[in-house]
Amino acid sequence: MIKNQWYLVLDAKEVKKNKLVGVTRLSEKLVFWRDENNEVNCIFDKCCHRGASLSAGKVVGNHVQCPFHGFLYDSKGRVINIPANGKQTLIPENFKVNSYIVKEAYGFIWLWYSEDKDNIPEIPFFEDLKNGFTYGGFSESWPVHYTRAIENQLDVVHLPFVHKTTIGADNRTLVNGPVVKWKDNLMTFYVNNDRDNGAIPLKPDEIKDYEKLFSLQFQMPNIWQNRISDQVRIFAGFAPIDDGNTRIYLRFYQSFMKVPILKELINSSSNIFNRIILHQDRKVVLTQLPIKSEFKINENLIQGDLPIIEFRKKRDQLR
Ligand code: FES
Ligand SMILES: [Fe+2]
Repeated sequence: MIKNQWYLVLDAKEVKKNKLVGVTRLSEKLVFWRDENNEVNCIFDKCCHRGASLSAGKVVGNHVQCPFHGFLYDSKGRVINIPANGKQTLIPENFKVNSYIVKEAYGFIWLWYSEDKDNIPEIPFFEDLKNGFTYGGFSESWPVHYTRAIENQLDVVHLPFVHKTTIGADNRTLVNGPVVKWKDNLMTFYVNNDRDNGAIPLKPDEIKDYEKLFSLQFQMPNIWQNRISDQVRIFAGFAPIDDGNTRIYLRFYQSFMKVPILKELINSSSNIFNRIILHQDRKVVLTQLPIKSEFKINENLIQGDLPIIEFRKKRDQLR
C-alpha cells in the first residue's frame, strides 16, 4: 500500500449517527463513528483488553464502548474509562489502540494513510467535480487487489471484447496512442480507437490535437473518472479492503438536469446501465492472475496498455 496518500475508503452515507461501522480497509480492521459534532472518527477495531470487536459495541456521546467489559475509547484510541476499576483509578498509557486521521468530503470518507500526522495535503478530488454536479451511486466488492480493478479502468484495449454488446459495440479494435499526460499524481489519458482498416496504430507522439479527444482521468491513489462530456461523468473510487479484495464506489455525475425529482431519476437509472458495464468487466478481471499487479510482473504489454504501464511506474516511484 502506498504511504502518504488520502484513500477514499467509504461513502459518507455509510457512517450514520449513533452507529458503529466496522470494516476492513487497507488490510486493517477499523471502526468508524460520528461524534456529537457529526465529525467522523476512526480507530482500530480490536479492544486492547481482551480483543473484542469494538464495532460490536456502541457509541456513547463522542466515544466508543467495548461490548465485552465496557472499556470506553476516545477518538485518539485511548481508553478513558475502565468500569471494573472505578472512575478514580488511573488508566495506564498502554491502554490504547491505533487511531486514524479521517475526513468527510465530497460525500465520501477519506483516510490519511501515513505516519506523518503533521504535513497533511488537501484531499485530491477532481477539481471539475467539486461544484455544479449532482450524483447517484452504488458500491460493490470484488475479490481482487485494488490495482487490478483500477487497471481495468485504465484499459482502453478491452472495449470491443468485454463490452461488445454495450459501449464497445462499434468494433474499434485498433488503438492509436493512447496519449498519457501527468500533472503531479493526476493522470489524463486521451483515447483514439478506430476500426481496423489496415493502418498501423499511431504512436502517442504522432497524435496531434489530442486534447480534443475523449479523455479519462486517474488520481493517485484510488479515484478515476470518465469524462463523457462537460456535463456527464462516471466516477469510481477503489477502496482497498485487503490484498485480495476491493470495494468499488461507482457514481454517475451530471450537471444538465437541475429539476429535483427528475435529476434523482436520471442519476439512479443511469446506474442500472453502469452496473451492467461494470459486471462485464468484473467477469474478466476476476480471472486475472496474479490478483495483484506489480511494476515488474511477467506480462507482455502492448502500446495500447500505456496508461496501465504509467500507473505501474507511478506506483513504483511513490512506494
Ligand atoms: S474486551 Fe473490550 S473491555 Fe474487555
Ligand atoms: Fe470495461
